[in-house]
Amino acid sequence: MLKKLGVSTKQILVPYYWLPYNFGRGYALPPISVNMEFTFRCNLRCQMCSLVVSNAVVTGGYPLNRGEAGDDLEAIRGKELESPDYLKLLDDLRDFGVRRVNFTGGEPLIKKGAPDILRRATRNGFHVSMISNGTVMTDDVCDALMGVDSLTVSVDGPEAIHNEIRGSDTGFQRIRQNVGKLQEWKKKTGSERPAIQFSCAVSAMNQTHVSQVVDFARELGVRSVNYGYLFFNDEDATKDTEQYALTGQADFCDQRIPMHLRQVNLDLMKKELREARRKAGEMGIQLSFNPPLEEDELEDRFNSPLYFYTNKCFVPWYETRVNPFGDVYSCQIDTLLGNIREKPFRKIWNAQPYREFRALIREHKLLSKCSRCCKLNDRMWNSLPRIGFFPKRFTAPSRPLGSSRRLPVLPAS
Ligand SMILES: C[S@@+](CC[C@H](N)C(=O)[O-])C[C@H]1O[C@@H](n2cnc3c(N)ncnc32)[C@H](O)[C@@H]1O
Ligand code: SF4
Ligand code: SF4
Repeated sequence: MLKKLGVSTKQILVPYYWLPYNFGRGYALPPISVNMEFTFRCNLRCQMCSLVVSNAVVTGGYPLNRGEAGDDLEAIRGKELESPDYLKLLDDLRDFGVRRVNFTGGEPLIKKGAPDILRRATRNGFHVSMISNGTVMTDDVCDALMGVDSLTVSVDGPEAIHNEIRGSDTGFQRIRQNVGKLQEWKKKTGSERPAIQFSCAVSAMNQTHVSQVVDFARELGVRSVNYGYLFFNDEDATKDTEQYALTGQADFCDQRIPMHLRQVNLDLMKKELREARRKAGEMGIQLSFNPPLEEDELEDRFNSPLYFYTNKCFVPWYETRVNPFGDVYSCQIDTLLGNIREKPFRKIWNAQPYREFRALIREHKLLSKCSRCCKLNDRMWNSLPRIGFFPKRFTAPSRPLGSSRRLPVLPAS
């Protein structure tokens, strides 16, 4: 109801995170939403993806430039979680009061056992969402998706552009086939779910073609398209952030995205985005932009070394992330906060490392690596004050936060 009036989820949830942020001394109510990174492996090689930059899509999370020769990285890192681990985790999260789970990756649909994990998530009553490259759509996947609330499929432009960006000769064609198949399943079973959305990462490589994603959505009966502006960071941002929070697994969140994607022509991009709006208006397709920038803000977004859409962040108070190895992180400040193989999630969420992490974020409002974070997309946050008294022992630690379990790093050759 409130959402129909244009009130965002972040606005509805203000008391849930803003009160603990100010008065909770680092504690938070159970997370609303958990992002499950099923795997860092992927069947595509998108040029803008941090997992490609770090090579984690190939190694599954053991970047080739890390580790001493002969190191058993699997022994250091552990194996990927398997279906029984996820089924247990989903039950634990339900009992803890979590409301939403989002499956992502890597490519979540190449994870062995993904359909059964999705079924458990829907049976547990979560709001379930998934983001996928749309290349894998077996009958079992289609069947499991009938219980999923929303499926976002990444589409970066018309066929030639999409396939070039995604390093695949057939990625686009497979989306056409697979989304068509999924729509048939929905019809056949009378299911309203999943709501399908396309998402397009806007960069210099597709800046003159993104409106064609709207045409493709219409062709396949998809009702909404999201445009997410490219996110990237410089080495300096990571180094600066490391003064406060050791980003022990930073290799998987390597956001040094190649320059040819970042060097945009803003006039061309603005024209194309206007065209997308025009087409969507005519075709009755819903558009969203992340973040919802005005045209005159695009210059700063792409060209200022440190750009922030809002001036503070509340995400660590209501959302979290579990990586393929069971490691728990708050967000893209990838400070290890615990592992679900060692402790149940509920014992990690308000344990000291997490409380210190929240204190750190509260104290600094944002860190350099927060620049262009996709979670900063509602400026209402600027008007939420930081008040309340944090006793000294609950303020951010003077030593850098982070895990001692860091992968060894080879000097650059
Ligand atoms: C990392 S992918 C994981 C899910 C799945 N493999 C996919 O591609 O949809 C999640 C989303 O992030 C987008 N993405 C990846 N790198 C990006 C970047 N540097 N800037 C903006 N979006 C990016 C992808 O296009 C995709 O929509
Ligand atoms: S499909 Fe997704 S995970 Fe795979 S390389 Fe592309 S953006 Fe990264
Ligand atoms: S803005 Fe920073 S603290 Fe907030 S979610 Fe993004 S990376 Fe994490």
